[in-house]
Amino acid sequence: MYKWVYLDRISEYIGNKVTIKGWLFNRRSSGGINFLLLRDGTGIIQASITKDSVSKEIFNIASSLTIESSVIVSGEVKKEPRSMSGYEIIIENIEVIKLTEEYPITKKEHGIEFLMDLRHLWLRSPRQRAILKIRNTIIKSIRDFFDDEGFTLVDAPIFTPSACEGTTNLFEVSYFDDKAYLTQSGQLYMEAACMALGKVYCFGPTFRAEKSKTRRHLTEFWMIEPEIAYITLEESMELQEKMLSYVVEKVLEKHERLLKFLGRDINALRKIKAPFERLHYDKAVEILQKNGSDIKWGDDFGGNDETILTKLFEKPVFVHRYPAEAKAFYMKKDEESPKYALCSDLLAPEGYGEIIGGGQREDDYETLLNAIHKHGLPEEAFKWYLDLRKYGSVPHGGFGLGIERTVSWICGLSHVRETIPFPRMLKRLTP
Ligand code: 4AD
Ligand code: MG
Repeated sequence: MYKWVYLDRISEYIGNKVTIKGWLFNRRSSGGINFLLLRDGTGIIQASITKDSVSKEIFNIASSLTIESSVIVSGEVKKEPRSMSGYEIIIENIEVIKLTEEYPITKKEHGIEFLMDLRHLWLRSPRQRAILKIRNTIIKSIRDFFDDEGFTLVDAPIFTPSACEGTTNLFEVSYFDDKAYLTQSGQLYMEAACMALGKVYCFGPTFRAEKSKTRRHLTEFWMIEPEIAYITLEESMELQEKMLSYVVEKVLEKHERLLKFLGRDINALRKIKAPFERLHYDKAVEILQKNGSDIKWGDDFGGNDETILTKLFEKPVFVHRYPAEAKAFYMKKDEESPKYALCSDLLAPEGYGEIIGGGQREDDYETLLNAIHKHGLPEEAFKWYLDLRKYGSVPHGGFGLGIERTVSWICGLSHVRETIPFPRMLKRLTP
């Protein structure tokens, strides 16, 4: 007679007898009434039980339940404006699946390393659940955006024979009698795929042996990488601002309450609408020098520079045409001024910094071959990649958006470690 329902749809069951399968989130009692806060993964609800409405046995079970015990609770759904969710369950029966002994995460303040060690449990906290929900919506809205724009999702391999983003942070693994590297980026494969399908994107984990311990770096992170045949750098920037505006709009539409719960400034997010400012690298360096950075022309931006620069802006800002010298081998040079690469980074405001990197790719066979040599990369491993410049080569480009940095910015978090369920960092491989 009881119907198993999820709490996110409890409003449809007022006056009905339901069963909730979940965990005890909290408990309090007041004057012969026990109030259990139950969570089932989709929501939280207050469930009340009074001495005279159930058997002594059931009442005693309710009184002895410990935090995070798994329980199945049955009863009737009522409207209850005084409760957090607006509804309440009047308990008729409780079945204890497993009583928990002393849950290690309590209401007191815990240190970050303690919580990271207990990440498998910490995920159950309201804050972590909110972040995971928003991460899910960010990923879904990016995928919806590209699907609606006519892109095809193409999966890139994880084992790769060569570097894409420099040789200093490669993870090497043994591959039978040979060696392989965990992918740093699906880009090179998307370049092949866009010649087949026009507009493509991949979404997957990427790996970088980052020795730096910063609030922006993980060793394993997820990237969305669109690649488009015939696109120019300017058109790519237009696509990026359109995509990001769409994503922020969708997250605001769906999660205003969760964002507020996380303490996010909603008004700051409301301003995120295309177009975004475009700064030439030279101009960005000038601004940085005026604002206390000791950056010299030719340097890539450090985390500090990104913080300084993006604190000056309310919306994301593009920095384009970095000096080619500091950039990856595959970048096309600006014909009008070849010391610059046709590339751009999109920096998130409020001090967050780079969330997207991209640009136009070198499409000339000889020029690319020279760049591969100049960067000391093995020509043999790039033979297939060079083929793309031999057979029907066209101008093309794309970009990579780091999911964790985007989640960090949209949620207003101070570190990427909370944006991914199980972070991998220089000093963290567990749980
Ligand atoms: O700027 P990156 O290195 O660009 C590429 O990998 C290109 N192949 C992408 C492309 O054009 N298809 O990385 C792109 C983004 C960064 O802007 C950042 O958001 C994220 O990936 N990222 C990281 N996120 C977390 N931890 C790290 N160690 C990251 N390294 C890059
Ligand atoms: Mg970059």
